[in-house]
Parts: sequence; structure tokens; C-alpha cells
Amino acid sequence: MGILLGYEVGTGEPVYIPEHHLIATGLTRLSGKTTTLEALIKRSGLRGIIFKTKIGEIDFPDANKLPLFYREKADWLYVEGLLEARLRERLKFERGFIIEVCKGARSLRDVYENIKLRLLKPKLRDFVRKVYTELLAYFELVLPELEKLNFVDRLELKEGLNVMDLTGIPEEVQMLIIHSVLDYIYENERNVILVLPEVWKLCPQGRMTPIKPIAEHLIREGGARGIWLWMDAQDITGVDKRLLKSVDVWLLGRQREINEINRILDQIPLPSKSKPKPEEIMRLPVGFFYTCFRDEVKLVYVQPSWLPTELAVKVAKGELSSENLNEYKPKVEEVDMEKIREVEEKLLEISNLLNKLKNDLEETKEHFNREIKRLEEKIAPLIGRSESIAREVTLESSEIAINVKQTEPTHVNLTTETIAGKIIYCAVNDLEGEFSPIELWGRMVERGWNINPSTLKMNLGQLVKQGLLVRTEKGRYRLPSKVKVNVEG
Ligand SMILES: Nc1ncnc2c1ncn2[C@@H]1O[C@H](COP(=O)(O)OP(=O)(O)OP(=O)(O)O)[C@@H](O)[C@H]1O
Ligand SMILES: [Mg+2]
Repeated sequence: MGILLGYEVGTGEPVYIPEHHLIATGLTRLSGKTTTLEALIKRSGLRGIIFKTKIGEIDFPDANKLPLFYREKADWLYVEGLLEARLRERLKFERGFIIEVCKGARSLRDVYENIKLRLLKPKLRDFVRKVYTELLAYFELVLPELEKLNFVDRLELKEGLNVMDLTGIPEEVQMLIIHSVLDYIYENERNVILVLPEVWKLCPQGRMTPIKPIAEHLIREGGARGIWLWMDAQDITGVDKRLLKSVDVWLLGRQREINEINRILDQIPLPSKSKPKPEEIMRLPVGFFYTCFRDEVKLVYVQPSWLPTELAVKVAKGELSSENLNEYKPKVEEVDMEKIREVEEKLLEISNLLNKLKNDLEETKEHFNREIKRLEEKIAPLIGRSESIAREVTLESSEIAINVKQTEPTHVNLTTETIAGKIIYCAVNDLEGEFSPIELWGRMVERGWNINPSTLKMNLGQLVKQGLLVRTEKGRYRLPSKVKVNVEG
């Protein structure tokens, strides 16, 4: 049977529209597009997502508030869309260079880092440098904004209306988020209505945006999964024509500009005699839409979700004006100034308290630093003393194994064939204790070893160096006390 739209003007008969892609157009504030789409979602029995992108859009007090959703994506087609959106022109030859910086990237931040590396190369052709510089500038604009938001990576839709509030977020980032949601819904969901606001901005004619490829894909393929695109547009000038061609349900609200009206009428696939007259569109009151689907055209008063049926029928029959229904609209909560003042005072108190705490903390910090410095100065000499005590104590009281390696010779073999051997031989056998070089020379001569005195002195010096003789302070020599000399043969 379809979704109840409202009541036919004149007869008051209910009008149902099929579940399909839809566009609602009409002058801002004077046609009631958002009110219409909200009511339709509620009556469709499907889950619907509305993106709130502009401040001043009506509130949806009973809708499920969706947290911001974003999933990283860095394939080249996506990045190409981003660049085309920035340059406001279609790209022709740059594809290879975009593919290059997307290789291995898992996030836009990765692509950004890749571009920075490429730009370091000195031999880049001018137009490649231009592509990369533009991308870099785009990422420098978008990434900090994107990265300061908190995102979830799963979307949980509730029955009826789900609203994602994107107000206050820069338009470029809004696009990334909307793209991400559309992509996710297409991949993971069935039977969902997606409301695209300001569709001339999101999906313009002749220019790529991050949203356009997925919107075009959804409008072609989504129907099979019960995913419907509903577009909200003040006018359709500049909206991508391929999208419009796939729209089956047209809701035409009040317009003033004749060119815009003609453009809309051109898009409606009906014989001219079935189409509404331009002047009829110019005079439409709020909530009244020429509704075209299949080969039908009906003027309908749309029933807002907040208006009881009998009153909606009355409006359709001309018994009640659609502009006098304020008392039925949901009350935006009255602002309680008394409460606001109370909260403001509390905030002021808290902020004063915080300031005081901050000052106290600073003072305490300074005090501690001073104290620590004073203690450090006092402790420094104690630390020196304790270290030396520790050293003494350690050696005395703990078991320490000290290994000393004997590297000096333990055995020396000499023969009386050498002068050194002759000297030691005489020192052992002919001299007792200390001896002078002359005494030694005398004994050696007695044994028949006639040695030049200076050679003898030189040999004495070498024996002292080897540790086999000791030279006393008086210039005399003796054998080291611990040396045992065996005289063989
Ligand atoms: N069917 C209706 N009957 C009575 N009043 C309506 C109806 N539709 C909308 N209105 C009222 O008209 C005003 C504008 O409605 P709404 O915000 O839905 O318009 P819009 O076309 O989406 O405007 P904008 O382009 O600024 O977003 C609101 O005050 C709303 O309550
Ligand atoms: Mg609106």
C-alpha cells in the first residue's frame, strides 16, 4: 500500500506513496520539507537516518540521537573524489599519482604522510607537484578537524527516526562522515531510509564529491536491499542529473523562481497536460506538495507527525489553514531563566574554587621544591660519608672473592754461559747479602770470568729490571729475599 503521505487537497482522501527514492523540494521555511520527511519516516515502519547539517533546522526531540560515525578509508577512488571536490573539477591524468600515494595507506593520515614523502623528491613534474600540494592542503584542512572528533565505528539504528547532528562541523568533514555512513549502511543494512540534506551541495552536477559515487551507487543498487535515498533540496538547479533520473517520488513544494519551477517540471516524467502549472507551484501554502509518482500527480496536504488525522483532513479539505497549527506543534522546552542563573552561579563558584586550587597547588609545589633543595644540600655530605662507610663495611663483612693472577715469571733458568748467569752464580756462592759492583767484579775475576766493568754494570741493571736483583739506596745490590736459587751441576 505504501507510506501515508497525507490527504488529497479537495477530497481529503488519504494518499500513499511507494517506498522508493524520493526528492522533496521547496522554498526554505515555506514548504515544510523536513517536517514531511520526518513524518514519512515515522509512518514508513522503516528505520531512517536524517543528517542535521545546518543550524536552524527543526529539532527532532523524539528521535534516536546517533553518535558520530566514521570509518577510515584510503582507497584511491575515494581520495580522487576528495581531490576533485576540492579542485571543483574532474581529474583526467592525475589518477596514477593518486594511486601511488594511496598504496599501502589505511587512513587518510597515511595518505597525507605518503604525499609529504613524495613532495621531498626534487625531480617531480610540475603538475604532479600541483596534485600533491592540493591534496596536502586539503588534508591539512580536514585531518585536524576530523581527528578532534570522537567517532564510533559501529552504527546501531533504532526503529523510526535516527538523527546524526553534524552542525558546527566544517562542510568538508561533514561530507566524510556522511560518506562513511552511506557506505556502512550499504554494506551492512537493509530497509533503511537515508535523508540527504542540501543535495545540490552533496551531489552537484559535473563535479565530484566524496558522497557522489556512493550516492549514485545507492540509488542504482540500494532499492534491491530496501535502501532508499530521500533528498531534501530547496531547489534542484545544480543537482546531479543522474541521481534525479532514478528518483520516482517527487514532492514539489512552493517555489517562487520560474526557472527553477520549469526545471523541476522538466524532470517529472509525465505528459505536459498532467504536470502542475508553474503558477500553482508558486502559490502553495506550507505543507502542500504536488506529488508525482508512477504516472500520477496529486496535490497533497502532508500530515505532520504531530498533527491529528482529522485536522490534517480538514486542512486538505480547505477547512483549516496549515499556517495556524502552532498549538499542535511539539513544544520546544521553555527556557527557565531562573534555572540558568542558578547553574551560572554554580559554575562561577566552581571556576573560582578551581582557580584557588590551582594557586594553592602552585604554592605547594614551590614550597616542596624549596624543601627538596634544602634537604638535598643537607644530605649531600652525608651521602659521601655513607658511601665510604659502606665500602669499608662491605669489605670487612661480606664474603668477597678476590682473584689475582700471577703474571710474573715463577721460574727463571740461567746458565753461567751468560753474564747474567755468572752474576747470579757469584751472588749466591761468593757474596753474602749486599755487594757492590766492584766486590762482584773481584769475585768474578777470581773465578776466571774477566768481564768489562761497564758490561757488568749494564747486566746488573737488566737483572734489577727483571726482578732477579734488588738495587739498594746506597747503590749496592742483593738477591731478592724470597728468591730461591738452585744451583745445578
Ligand atoms: N505540513 C505542515 N503543516 C503545518 N505546518 C508545517 C507543515 N510542514 C512544516 N510546517 C511548519 O513550517 C515550518 C518550516 O518547516 P520545515 O523546517 O519542515 O521546512 P523546510 O522546508 O525543511 O525548511 P528549510 O529549508 O529551512 O529546512 C515549521 O515551523 C514547521 O512546523
Ligand atoms: Mg529542512
